[in-house]
Amino acid sequence: MRRALVSALDEAARHGREAADAEDLLAVIADDRESAGAYLLEQCGVDIGRILDRAQPGIGPLPAQRADRLNRSAIRILRSASAEATRLRHDHVGTEHVIAALALAGDLEVGKKLNDAGMTPANAEAAIRRWIADGMPRRRGGWGWAPVQPRLLTAAMRPLQKAARLPRILWNVFANKSLAHPRFVTDPYPLYRWLRERQPVRKDPLAPVWVLTRHDDVMEMLRSPRFRKDPFAPQRLPRLVRKQLGVPGEETRPQPETVSMLFLDPPAHTRVRGVFSRAFTPASLAELRPSIERMARQRIDRVVEGFASTAATGQMDIIADLAYPLPVVTIVEMLGFPAEDFPRIKQWSDDLAAALSLNPSPKQQTRSNQAWNEIRGYFEQVVARMQRTPGNSLLSRLLEAENEPDGLNRDEMFTNCVLLLSAGHETTTNLIGNGMLALLRNRDQWDLLVRQPDLIESAVDELLRYDSPVQWTSRLTGEPIEINGQTIPPGEIVLGCLGAANRDPARFPDPDRLDIRRSDNRHLAFGSGIHYCLGAALAKMEAQIAIRELAARFPRMTLAKTKLRWMKGLTFRGVKSLPVLLR
Ligand code: HEM
Repeated sequence: MRRALVSALDEAARHGREAADAEDLLAVIADDRESAGAYLLEQCGVDIGRILDRAQPGIGPLPAQRADRLNRSAIRILRSASAEATRLRHDHVGTEHVIAALALAGDLEVGKKLNDAGMTPANAEAAIRRWIADGMPRRRGGWGWAPVQPRLLTAAMRPLQKAARLPRILWNVFANKSLAHPRFVTDPYPLYRWLRERQPVRKDPLAPVWVLTRHDDVMEMLRSPRFRKDPFAPQRLPRLVRKQLGVPGEETRPQPETVSMLFLDPPAHTRVRGVFSRAFTPASLAELRPSIERMARQRIDRVVEGFASTAATGQMDIIADLAYPLPVVTIVEMLGFPAEDFPRIKQWSDDLAAALSLNPSPKQQTRSNQAWNEIRGYFEQVVARMQRTPGNSLLSRLLEAENEPDGLNRDEMFTNCVLLLSAGHETTTNLIGNGMLALLRNRDQWDLLVRQPDLIESAVDELLRYDSPVQWTSRLTGEPIEINGQTIPPGEIVLGCLGAANRDPARFPDPDRLDIRRSDNRHLAFGSGIHYCLGAALAKMEAQIAIRELAARFPRMTLAKTKLRWMKGLTFRGVKSLPVLLR
């Protein structure tokens, strides 16, 4: 179903339209011989070539930019498909329900043609029941036995299959190491090794995604234009599908979100990134350095002063006291937002970041949508103030360039400023947190850094490699792609595991050893290619300042706790708090 939606958007673009319609859905379902919908059409003897006015799908090159929405007819069909699935008591919505919904839509031209060709609502329902009784003969996954089974045997097997479902899920999670395995959050590295060695390119046994774990393959994914960015990245796709299906409780997501540079392909990406990259020059970063150094010192002073007044025992939480506020205040000031608004902004960006996890809960999504609307109102107020009294901040400069040929419009400015807020803080917080944890767990390396603070640059790179703050990023295949002997079909979501690539022994000798002197350390923690992290130099500078300051002030620091709580979700890796003893 996911593939059908994405292919329908491609199909629309191939015909020069901005939105996919009901006929696009029919065309791509008919063209996917393995889909349940195609089975229905075949069973009812529908000659699809006679129905579709336009050229057959799948012909001609993929367009550079896919359509970005479904039109009203397509949304109506998806809603009706969802209702059909509910009526038939099926626990998913598939292409078979889309065909049934099209058959029901006799008032649409495409529905009428289907009816005339023999696909009436009654025939569609009978074909769905036959398809199930035949043991779902197409590649539908989930049941695991593809060949057509005799009906009696199928009926006899059904209760057994139901009973077998839970053990099979458990098997896939624990033995087959699906992404649902809980240790992907707490200690993913042994699992990465297992995947890299056995199945470096594989379709996850439970989640509908392909997973890459070798350095060269992840690099290929990041750099090759055959892998595309997509606004329907995994974390969004389920929400989009729910939205398009009109599932209750899901609020509509504002349109401008799709223009954030992180989710754009060229040429749109090149223009937006070009404008922002002017703010991330070495000169503008150098200007920020003194205030970041001052802030790091002040934060630590405040902790130490706290001991004097409360006779506390010389403890500090590296996350709450330093790693958390430092990057947010920096990015907030860089954008030109008033520093005293930091707590509100922090709350909004936390809410937005939570919804970027691989599988956000409905509550997280609702909160994220609220945050989005509130921050938009706040943004407009700040913009109005800046227009009255312009300054030298990033946002002020963007506003000045608003009417230039490659200037950004207000929606683009807003979306990308929000991207900077969320991309720019949790990641850096985790770099400082994961980095300090790694150093304190590898005492010899901490002591070495204390003795030789000028190793800080190579140390921070090694910390980025060793326990990467961003573990995964995704792309969508625009065409069949052969990678490491496996062919990934078009329209599939591919997850490149940066954390696994950074521990690949084929690229990094002795990869599980923390070595702050490591040279030739071209890790993928900031990605690679055209989407290479825009804030990489800023993040490194912040981490270098924070960690060097800690090493200088508290050389005898030790971990106060050995058991730590990790944040939920696979994408961002970091501990919730990191208590340390300072003396
Ligand atoms: C340790 C801290 C950070 C890490 C590990 C990190 C990691 C990444 C990664 C892996 C990507 C590429 C994603 C992809 O290819 O799909 C990325 C992109 C990006 N990052 Fe960072 N990031 C960090 C800090 C920052 C900071 C401080 C900022 C800005 C203030 C920032 C802004 C961005 C932006 C704007 C992009 C999108 C670039 C594009 O699409 O062209 N990041 N980051």
